[in-house]
Amino acid sequence: MCTEQAGRVINFSLSSAACNSEANGSRTNLSSSDSVINLDHGDPIIFEPYWRKMGDKCTVVIPGYQSLSYFANINNLCWFLEPELEKAIKRLHRVVGNAVVEDYHIVVGTGSSQLIQAALYALCPPDGPEPVSVVSAVPYYSSYQDVTEFLRSGLYKWEGDARTFDKEGAYIELVTSPNNPDGTIRERIVKQGEGKVVHDLAYYWPHYTPITSPADYDIMLFTISKCTGHAGSRIGWALVKDEPVAKKMTKFIELNTIGVSKESQLRAAKILGVISDNCLHFGSSSSDNFFEYAEHLMAKRWEELMDVVGRSAIFSLPEYPQEYCLFAGKFTEAHPAFAWMKCNNDKIEDCEKFFRGNKILTRGGKRFVADPKYVRVSMLGKEDEFNLFLERLLAIQETGYVLG
Ligand SMILES: Cc1ncc(COP(=O)(O)O)c(C=O)c1O
Repeated sequence: MCTEQAGRVINFSLSSAACNSEANGSRTNLSSSDSVINLDHGDPIIFEPYWRKMGDKCTVVIPGYQSLSYFANINNLCWFLEPELEKAIKRLHRVVGNAVVEDYHIVVGTGSSQLIQAALYALCPPDGPEPVSVVSAVPYYSSYQDVTEFLRSGLYKWEGDARTFDKEGAYIELVTSPNNPDGTIRERIVKQGEGKVVHDLAYYWPHYTPITSPADYDIMLFTISKCTGHAGSRIGWALVKDEPVAKKMTKFIELNTIGVSKESQLRAAKILGVISDNCLHFGSSSSDNFFEYAEHLMAKRWEELMDVVGRSAIFSLPEYPQEYCLFAGKFTEAHPAFAWMKCNNDKIEDCEKFFRGNKILTRGGKRFVADPKYVRVSMLGKEDEFNLFLERLLAIQETGYVLG
């Protein structure tokens, strides 16, 4: 138990107690009620214990003479894509069944963040009469607007909410499914005009959501950051149907970073290979199945959060329907990477500010062009930090006490 408030000890039987977290390289003592809990970023360190358990299975040794060249495979459209990574990506999608890979080109990127920019570049004609409109349905991933506006490109222009977009002409709709921040399954919204759609499927993996069919959209973006938790390796990939679009995306990355780190690609290939191998033992008692492990962990956190939230009417969480997951072979529920929490108390207008007053950092609804009564809470942080969050949330609900 970590928290003592309003003169009484909050008894919440969580394992955390000696809470330490590493943020920005410095260790923060979480055992104190003064400590700040940072649940703003979606830094996916939750799966670290699994990777520790894998030990040397995932170790990659790269001798000094290896991987010197810029080139990885000159016969591939994406000439800097390591053949091992290409194989591992295709194999994993086949094993999980979350995306069709046959007849798709793979473009590797430095995270899917780079691929979002590559896709915007590739989908705009170089000599269009005016910048192509870029839209996404509210609440949308806060980086889309930043990335679109950052370079003040003449090729495209941020136009905001897809639901209210009514211009004729060329547009690009960014569809995140499951969505960041609210975990909902989404389809394109804009129907008029000449539209291109980029499907960001960063969270379309069995630990976050039931896999109901293999996705087969024109452009699908994935990232190892959210799939396995290896955000630091900075590897994302796009599955692209149309060859000219895949070529233009490759060109963007060539001009931007002359390819993608080979060391990262080889590490990613190894990691993805290990999780594909471990999927073969699904459901057995000795299973090292990553998705099974990760799904249990996410389900446990969601159960704990729902339990605490359900003890009062102050906060509420979205509900997700049970659906048949083809990968798990049973009905499962979504356990999104973020909790999209709503504050129902009339006195609290800005939930992010309220939580900040309680030394809990979240990302407020405004950042997603949504009501400030909402906050996005990362479910992917360290165990001790998550447990302390639950304790503090419980204390807020039981006492209405605002720290500091
Ligand atoms: C929906 C979505 N797309 C893309 C990204 C970027 O991921 P990456 O680490 O691969 O750049 C994120 C990261 O939070 C995300 O939530």
